[in-house]
Amino acid sequence: MANHEDLFKKIIAHAKEYGFIFQSSEIYDGLSAVYDYGQYGSELKANIMDYWWKAMVQYHENIVGIDSAIFMHPRVWKASGHLEAFNDPLIDNKDSKKRYRADQLVEDHMAKIEQKVDKEVKKAKKRFGDEFDEEQFVTTHPRVLKYKEQIETINNRLVKDLENEDFDDLKKLIEELEIACPVSGSKNWTEVRQFNLMFSTQMGSVNEGANQIYLRPETAQGIFVNYLNVQKTGRMKIPFGIAQIGKAFRNEIVARQFIFRMREFEQMEMQYFVKPGTEMEWFEFWKNERVKWHKSLGIPDDKFRLHEHDKLAHYANAAYDIEFNFPMGFKELEGIHSRTNFDLSAHQNESGRKIQYYDNDTQDSYVPYVVETSIGLDRMFLAIITQAYTEEKLEDGSERVVMKIPPILAPIKAAVLPLVKKDGLPEKAREIMDNLKYDYMCHYEEKDTIGRRYRRMDAIGTPYSITVDHQTLEDNTVTIRERDSMKQDRIDIEKIPEILRDRLKPVKVD
Ligand code: GAP
Repeated sequence: MANHEDLFKKIIAHAKEYGFIFQSSEIYDGLSAVYDYGQYGSELKANIMDYWWKAMVQYHENIVGIDSAIFMHPRVWKASGHLEAFNDPLIDNKDSKKRYRADQLVEDHMAKIEQKVDKEVKKAKKRFGDEFDEEQFVTTHPRVLKYKEQIETINNRLVKDLENEDFDDLKKLIEELEIACPVSGSKNWTEVRQFNLMFSTQMGSVNEGANQIYLRPETAQGIFVNYLNVQKTGRMKIPFGIAQIGKAFRNEIVARQFIFRMREFEQMEMQYFVKPGTEMEWFEFWKNERVKWHKSLGIPDDKFRLHEHDKLAHYANAAYDIEFNFPMGFKELEGIHSRTNFDLSAHQNESGRKIQYYDNDTQDSYVPYVVETSIGLDRMFLAIITQAYTEEKLEDGSERVVMKIPPILAPIKAAVLPLVKKDGLPEKAREIMDNLKYDYMCHYEEKDTIGRRYRRMDAIGTPYSITVDHQTLEDNTVTIRERDSMKQDRIDIEKIPEILRDRLKPVKVD
């Protein structure tokens, strides 16, 4: 089994064993691509939300937050273009009866060619050692150049087919590339068909002629339809932003890879309303701001890369993905989109209401342009636990699994542990616990040996363990153990809140 698959399986197993993520309705064998967050998962998720909300809303005086309903008027989705254009091109293999996204089959094929390039680079690196010049190699080596040309030709055709909705040609492309079904191995494909990703349901009693409504596939539309309300009641001046965190639903056909692609998931989105003509400046600004946010969590730079979209969503005129190196490779974590005035104009036309901004300084009215930042909360969760999962061999020969979750996001900030369950140590430890628990999520534990308790805290990513021992009763000191270094310091009990406050502060990255 490939290493990354192995690692992914271990992360998924760890997430279940330690109460981070469970499959939905597991006692009924689960529901595909739907997951529940457990006792530590829900804490971590809430901390990620809080970290995002503070960075976007609290630290920006011109950004406010809302919480709009999941159900919206069905005409919203007509105006937004989702009814017409929120589709995936699907293809079935006639032998295995498995269904695939046609564009992803082609993308996987291109990724395989890319792997051949990587192999050539690795081989050459080994051969040439320190003298190897990778830049020169990939721009001159004939085999690498041939692979790169192949990728470019395939990609250009894929983008053209998707843009022109030329699904006959997309099928031809799959056949010409001789792409086989990963399950049956056959190349016996159906036609490519469009499939709308929105879930629909009925509102009201069917007898009374119920309305068909949709579960929102993005939270953004709840912001657009409230643009006027917020601008007027908040007396907002352009440029300004509206942020929201909430559930979104997509009937993903190819739903796999754990919480990477779910049918019910959560988004953290911000729409920034700007003067027409300034949108590319703001697009650059938000791209940089969002990259800084990720880096502020101490995740190494090489785990991220920016990817510019060739094929734009129906509402965008420029788009970048911030990609993260997940166990299955670099994949989209967050999207930064320049959405022009597409959405507000569409709602203005569909609703018949004037949705404009009156600029007091220039005395003109316009439909604002929008720059959007959109990150999947669940994907951010996956990025954090992927990055955190560490297997370590210790000096004494033992092994530990430690979740090196950034302390500010850790589900439990501190564990309070009496060394033994007697001699007045539990009572003293309870005092400390009671003093800390109103400010921090803490965990009290007196069962098991201290070593086992430390390991358990490592496994859920608790950054600090405070141990009360016999010396505590003599001089009012405790030991504080740091998760990653396992270093222990002896400190005064009075100093604990100050130390936690200092070490759990958000880091600002410029
Ligand atoms: N409002 C813009 C929008 O929805 P998107 O690229 O379709 O754009 C934004 O989605 C983010 O939402 C993605 O970068 C990803 O993190 C997350 N996301 C999208 N579909 C998802 C799914 N099926 N499961 C989990 N997260 C998803």
